[in-house]
Amino acid sequence: MIKFENVTKRYPGGTVAVDELNLTVPPGKITVFVGPSGCGKTTSLRLINRSIELTSGRILVDGRDVTSVPAVALRRGIGYVIQHGGLFPHQTVIDNVATVPYLLGWDKKKARARAHELLERVGLPASFAKRYPAQLSGGQQQRVGVARALAADPPIMLMDEPFSAVDPIVRASLQEEFLRLQQELGKTIVLVTHDIDEAIKLGDNVAVFAEGGKLAQLDSPARILANPADEFVEDLVGRDRGYRGLSFVTAHDLPVHPVPTTALGASTADARAAVRDQRWVLALDADRRPLGWLDVSQSDMDTVDTVESAALLSVGATFTGDSSMRRVLDGALASPAGYSVGVDADGAFTGAVSTAEVAQHLASQDRVSVEPL
Ligand SMILES: Nc1ncnc2c1ncn2[C@@H]1O[C@H](COP(=O)(O)OP(=O)(O)OP(=O)(O)O)[C@@H](O)[C@H]1O
Ligand SMILES: [Mg+2]
Repeated sequence: MIKFENVTKRYPGGTVAVDELNLTVPPGKITVFVGPSGCGKTTSLRLINRSIELTSGRILVDGRDVTSVPAVALRRGIGYVIQHGGLFPHQTVIDNVATVPYLLGWDKKKARARAHELLERVGLPASFAKRYPAQLSGGQQQRVGVARALAADPPIMLMDEPFSAVDPIVRASLQEEFLRLQQELGKTIVLVTHDIDEAIKLGDNVAVFAEGGKLAQLDSPARILANPADEFVEDLVGRDRGYRGLSFVTAHDLPVHPVPTTALGASTADARAAVRDQRWVLALDADRRPLGWLDVSQSDMDTVDTVESAALLSVGATFTGDSSMRRVLDGALASPAGYSVGVDADGAFTGAVSTAEVAQHLASQDRVSVEPL
């Protein structure tokens, strides 16, 4: 556990980067510091491992005042992923990852073996070990940074914008991997970002920082979306917060119903018969997995014989009971047929639900859990 007690950091020159911060970071969980540029996120993070010394107040790590522990000993238990990667440019990837084990005096062979294992863990091929950071993409460098911070298996990880230098798609996959890894490792993590979506996706708890190093709100993501503490937080979470809040509601109780379906090998005449006076039929493969929507009203339907040779429109993102209602609603809104498509664990079709039915279901529910932390 990490505890900030009335922590203030004033830089020489007078900037108050952190102002009377009180905050608890629970063990084994991800706490995200989010807020606009310059609001003291990096400073707060670096106060924890004493790469910056505080001006007043105190920080406790597992009950011990950090200033009472020699900085080197303190940092041994705290991995640190630096903003913008911070890899050593003149060292190979493997030596970058093994930095801390070398510092801890591990023998070279053991340190490198550990580094290889970590590269694999973060999804980098072994062939990257001998490259230099400049020979990797931004996203790959960030993975190396994460591997390096994990090297000594520290119980605490401080991560400063670890996924910022990459495009949204790579970023989303790094985030997924990170959450998977954390499920296995269960570390105490403080992660800094200025992206509220990232904060909501990754955080068990989210600390919203405001201009001048003040804490505006500390809460679960669901509560921050449901009950922003003030106008600043409300602005930060944005106008879509109702929609974003659906990320925390699952489709477990959502009723689905059948829609007209057809097999890939069926004739278009049969497919048309299946829908009667409706327009859309869902094509399924031999294992009943959805392949696409067929519009039986389209003009070229008479010129193609089978469903297989007709133009199918994408089903989009399918959902299971574990999926979020955000995904379900988005699926329905994006679908040409107006239906979100449910599947079971094997991907087989279970039923569909329309936008209106999703809205009805949401309206009938007490949706967002707002139990205090
Ligand atoms: N070494 C320093 N000396 C003086 N002022 C500093 C120093 N480092 C940071 N500051 C100031 O302290 C404030 C907080 O900076 P900090 O780096 O903690 O912000 P941040 O929230 O991490 O911002 P960003 O999102 O841009 O990374 C800023 O006003 C910054 O200019
Ligand atoms: Mg920063």
